[in-house]
Amino acid sequence: MIRDIEIADLKKITEIVKRKHDYDFTNYAMSSFKRRISRILELYNISIEKLVSRLENESAFGEEFLTEITVNVTEMFRDPSFWDTLREEIIPSILVNHDTFKIWHAGCSSGEEVYSMTILLHEMGILDKVTSFATDIDPLILNRAQAGEYHLKNMELNEKNYIRFKGQTSLKDYYTEKNGKAVMDKSLIRNVQFKKHDLVNGNLFNKVDLILCRNVMIYFNQSLQNTVLKKFHESLFKYGYLAIGSKESLIWCDIASKFIIVSNEEKVYRKLRD
Ligand SMILES: C[S@@+](CC[C@H](N)C(=O)[O-])C[C@H]1O[C@@H](n2cnc3c(N)ncnc32)[C@H](O)[C@@H]1O
Repeated sequence: MIRDIEIADLKKITEIVKRKHDYDFTNYAMSSFKRRISRILELYNISIEKLVSRLENESAFGEEFLTEITVNVTEMFRDPSFWDTLREEIIPSILVNHDTFKIWHAGCSSGEEVYSMTILLHEMGILDKVTSFATDIDPLILNRAQAGEYHLKNMELNEKNYIRFKGQTSLKDYYTEKNGKAVMDKSLIRNVQFKKHDLVNGNLFNKVDLILCRNVMIYFNQSLQNTVLKKFHESLFKYGYLAIGSKESLIWCDIASKFIIVSNEEKVYRKLRD
């Protein structure tokens, strides 16, 4: 019989993953971490003891575990009104003071957010004025982001979002169909560097004008959110922008007073001072 997952199990798993695989989930939100562990047990049809033993003894299992423990759900033009705010307010405001600028996509998952941004920049005629870093903790998902190949059935939702965003053309103009997949036009990502980067213990990216870290910190506890937000604050130019997910907020964070809210609905903040 499968027994309940105890807090002691989660602590043990976290300790092994940190010691053996160098990923630190200590400050991830406990409830979603537990749900993901439960999902892994079901997926692999194994007991908690077997999971512990695999993590302890199989070095190659670390990356598989990482892919399963992290939530990679994403869409192109997710929350279309957010992308509209970027196009109509945020990016024009950056361009007032900077001819060229830098963006950091922190937790870019399989890259849909990155393609959305490059399409937006292309349609604004400024794709070559912008360099971007697209980072994620998970190397497997980063490979997918770089490949830019998505199931055609996912493109239906992406296209709906793009229409709601009021893009200039059709998403179909940005990909070719091959073996049931949409293969994105690689020239869109010519100024994007994809890099494995762990927000928990990774360095800063100096200095960027806009950080998108959407639907990532929702999986962190308050203490880790504070640590990561401090890094974002340091990585931004003065008056740089930070965008987080629609269900996330800076309200309870230590650093809140160093940002002003630009859009409460779209969760866009602006750095006030160093
Ligand atoms: C739900 S996806 C968000 C994707 C995209 N930003 C969006 O809003 O659609 C969360 C991503 O955060 C990444 N992630 C989780 N923990 C991370 C960490 N410590 N450092 C960097 N990325 C992390 C996961 O691998 C996953 O790809």
